[in-house]
Amino acid sequence: MNTMKIQIITLFPEMFEGVLNSSMLWKAQDRGLVEFSVIDLRQFGLGPRNQVDDPPYGGGDGMVLMVEPLSKAIAHAKAQDETAKVYLPTPRGKTFKQSDAKRVAASEEGLIIVCPRYEGYDERIIDWVDEQYSIGNYVLTGGEIPAMVLLDSVTRLIPGVLGGEESAEKESFQQDDVSIEHPQYTRPEDFNGKKVPSVLLSGNHARIEQWKDENSR
Ligand code: ADE
Repeated sequence: MNTMKIQIITLFPEMFEGVLNSSMLWKAQDRGLVEFSVIDLRQFGLGPRNQVDDPPYGGGDGMVLMVEPLSKAIAHAKAQDETAKVYLPTPRGKTFKQSDAKRVAASEEGLIIVCPRYEGYDERIIDWVDEQYSIGNYVLTGGEIPAMVLLDSVTRLIPGVLGGEESAEKESFQQDDVSIEHPQYTRPEDFNGKKVPSVLLSGNHARIEQWKDENSR
């Protein structure tokens, strides 16, 4: 069995604790299907204060992540997994789609996700980057949430992560059209007058399947 390695380079490792240690992502690690490691960018900082950022050349607001700590952190991650691909979340990247998640999961190559912070990063880092991606047309405070989006969307497609009929196979004929499942209901049948659609209680499997079809897209 192949274990996909996903390494995350960040100044805020604690942001990943809840996400990586809960629910399906935790189970995926527990089953040995994926291995996450969170690398603290600060340990590659320069000088006695482990400096990672500096003001931008040409002036401007805020601080910019320096290329040297970033490239050292990437080299450290590459040493753990030589063939890993380096991903950089940035609002300037191409929008990450379901088809990208499938491609990454199917490649079985490890990932190194570099999370920028502050006002930005030294553009020279892109020489170490294989893919820049955006998760949508809005600006976040850093790359951690986009990193979580990438690793979550990829991990759930690794065979064995989801069980049974929930498997990613069901979606395999789709490209970027994400299949949206029909709405679901569980007990009670009647909650303060709000009723479960009667067809679901009818026991008529043909009609139930038809209802599910009609309410999926
Ligand atoms: N960093 C800040 N905003 C982002 C976005 N929308 N997508 C990816 N990285 C980002």
